[in-house]
Amino acid sequence: MPYPRERPRRLRSTPALRRLVRETVLEPQHLVLPMFVREGATEPRPVSSMPGVVQHTTESLRKAAVEAVEAGVGGLMLFAVPEHKDADGSGGYAPDGALNVAIRDVVHEVGDATVVMADLCLDEFTDHGHCGVLTPDGAVDNDATLQAYQRMAVAQAEAGAHVVGPSGMMDGQVGAVRDALDEAGHTGVSILAYAVKYASAFYGPFRDAVESSLTGDRRTYQQDPANAVEALREVRLDVDEGADMVMVKPALSYLDIVTRVRELVDVPVAAYQVSGEYAMIEAAAANGWIDRDRAVEESLLSIRRAGADTILTYWAVDVARRL
Ligand code: PBG
Repeated sequence: MPYPRERPRRLRSTPALRRLVRETVLEPQHLVLPMFVREGATEPRPVSSMPGVVQHTTESLRKAAVEAVEAGVGGLMLFAVPEHKDADGSGGYAPDGALNVAIRDVVHEVGDATVVMADLCLDEFTDHGHCGVLTPDGAVDNDATLQAYQRMAVAQAEAGAHVVGPSGMMDGQVGAVRDALDEAGHTGVSILAYAVKYASAFYGPFRDAVESSLTGDRRTYQQDPANAVEALREVRLDVDEGADMVMVKPALSYLDIVTRVRELVDVPVAAYQVSGEYAMIEAAAANGWIDRDRAVEESLLSIRRAGADTILTYWAVDVARRL
């Protein structure tokens, strides 16, 4: 009987061999922790659809930011839940708006020890829940929204954000934000563009976390999950407009997009493992149906293997501590 000449199993036979030939690594520096702060909160509030995630108070946010730095995460991405919303989302660009205060607090606490990023979008601040301002007939007004993003970007930079993350999927948002930052003298503030953001059901738990006011959907500005070529166009536009990094979101259902984007551009590529991806694994694990820690690590490794340099994940601190 002929013996197999090639035996891939040889290199799997001991932990040391497997370690030697491991192609993909996951390190704390690759992980960015999204965090929520709730204006006026006196106690951290658990987000029921995201076990282990809370809406922070001002105090608990600072403390958690320090803990994340100690765990070695690559960065923090801040979101805020304001006490008051209005049609224009003015809380997004008010210097004393909830997110801008949170940026100031966190930067004051951690300085340059990690990268402080802020979500740049109006949806948390509008009473209708859309990512931009509306025309009289209720459509999202692209160009009027760009002006609001410009003000918001400058407010975030002035609060000390190292990176701003425009996530509203308005056309021209990266260029508009870059111009506004530069004109205000913030030439050193980077842009992490949510370049490819799909209209996804996997954002469901996030909308609990930020107490979203949205009733409809975001399909007139976020991408159709069926499209891949369009994603490449979005990325090309954002890089041309000055994006320093580009992001694909969600991650697990879009690993093909992560790979294609990684091949297309010469800037760092991030992927956002979103709230629904987190909730699915936590829920299955809570039922005893999967091994939580292994499933979490496998999901993160697969996103890295697909080509992401950076991963936004609610497990960032948890995993960083384990590594
Ligand atoms: C928009 C924004 C959303 C998420 C991040 N930024 C929500 C949306 O587009 O509906 C979702 C993140 C997640 O689901 O974890 N500000």
